Amino acid sequence: MTIGTLTKGTVVADDVSRHGMWSSRLLFVLAATGSAVGLGNIWKFPYITGENGGGAFVLVYLLCIAAIGIPVMMAEVMIGRAGRQSPINTLRTLVRDSNANRSWTIIGWMGVAAGFLILSYYAVIAGWAVSYTFRLGSGVFDGATGAHTSQIFDGFLGSPGSLLFWHTVFMAATIFIVARGVARGLEVAVRYLMPILLILLLGLVGYAAIYGDFARGFEFLFSFDFSKLSWGGTLTAMGHAFFTLSLGMGAIMAYGAYVPSKASISTTVFTIGALDTAVALAAGLAIFPIVFAVAGLEPGDGPGLMFVTLPIAFGNLPLGAALGCVFFLLVSFAAITSAISLTEPVLTYLVERYDAKRWIVAVVVGLFCWLLGIGTVLSFNEWSGATLFGLTFFEVVDYLSYKIMLPLGGLLIALFAGWVLAKRIVVEQLGFGEGTKWQLWNAAICVIAPAGILIVFAYSLYETFAS
Ligand code: TRP
Repeated sequence: MTIGTLTKGTVVADDVSRHGMWSSRLLFVLAATGSAVGLGNIWKFPYITGENGGGAFVLVYLLCIAAIGIPVMMAEVMIGRAGRQSPINTLRTLVRDSNANRSWTIIGWMGVAAGFLILSYYAVIAGWAVSYTFRLGSGVFDGATGAHTSQIFDGFLGSPGSLLFWHTVFMAATIFIVARGVARGLEVAVRYLMPILLILLLGLVGYAAIYGDFARGFEFLFSFDFSKLSWGGTLTAMGHAFFTLSLGMGAIMAYGAYVPSKASISTTVFTIGALDTAVALAAGLAIFPIVFAVAGLEPGDGPGLMFVTLPIAFGNLPLGAALGCVFFLLVSFAAITSAISLTEPVLTYLVERYDAKRWIVAVVVGLFCWLLGIGTVLSFNEWSGATLFGLTFFEVVDYLSYKIMLPLGGLLIALFAGWVLAKRIVVEQLGFGEGTKWQLWNAAICVIAPAGILIVFAYSLYETFAS
């Protein structure tokens, strides 16, 4: 089914998506921010900042958001809204309207596959956060030492049953929300969870300012010491800018299909980018002062920062148990509003392809993703010795999606939007006219973004094969 608005370039009454529409521009901003803000901001950003020496890394990350992330996100929203279908069928329509080569639809197919892979492990790690919400609340970390918290974390990872349980809980909640559709599922979730998340986060920053070593945390995040930044760190910053904005696999494209025609793409995308960045920085401002407040803890502890280092801090600070419980609740909310966006490209495609009911498709997709996730669950225990090129099942899935499919997808999206998509469609969607704004956009999408992404992509390949 296609929507016949593109060839004439006029907006007619059927300029809506069969899957639903955001009820306002604000709801789109909340939903896309919900997708962007996730484990990437709260779990990953602080620890990679810690590992890469702080401020200078943050500065490079901010540059990448502005120069690569924002233009590619505009391209995704624009493509989605121009087609108003699942990413796969949207690309088919736009390829036809632009007289382009059909191979460009690979963007849609690869996105579906990447979404599948990412969700399968995202649900497992988000499950850890959900379980830690209860763990912190129970007070097991009161007065904890490092040995104590690593023992608890290792014990947890070593138990496939517990990991599977929380993986199942998280996946079921995700599928429950997406099965209800755009208005009754996605919108209801983001309408409540996003404001709660922002309030909790501000509360945590306030706590960090009172009880933490705020000055040291602030300095760590914002003092630009370039001697601490390696070339590898620069590229990590670029890759992360990409992941944190949910780009490269059609999630934002799928959400773009439900954006009202009147909404300005540039304004909404800038708002989403700014909110995502603000949340990552606020997470840093909440976490580092708390880490520095407890003697002997270091910010460069890697992925364990959230599950091993932070619980020590929570176990030794006033009101720590309650606070830790709130913190992990916040992480869980952030993760679920991201997870729901990962299913949208495949869900909408299957609904279009088989004319099926959304909830049936959601349950089927959820089941397959859950099954695939069992591989990640076992990677931390039973299968930890089973490796391919030295990578566990989880690491292979993560590598394939994060380091290959996302950069490749983002590159193709930028090239498609910049060089292939018919100009009248772009002009109509962006509503810029052809002045300075247009030129900036053109330079960013045709040259700067593709070049930047290529560097990240090439580097990640080099890193693996050279080591
Ligand atoms: N951006 C989310 C995070 O920071 C993760 C995510 C959701 C994502 N949807 C995506 C990443 C699509 C890449 C592509 O946690």
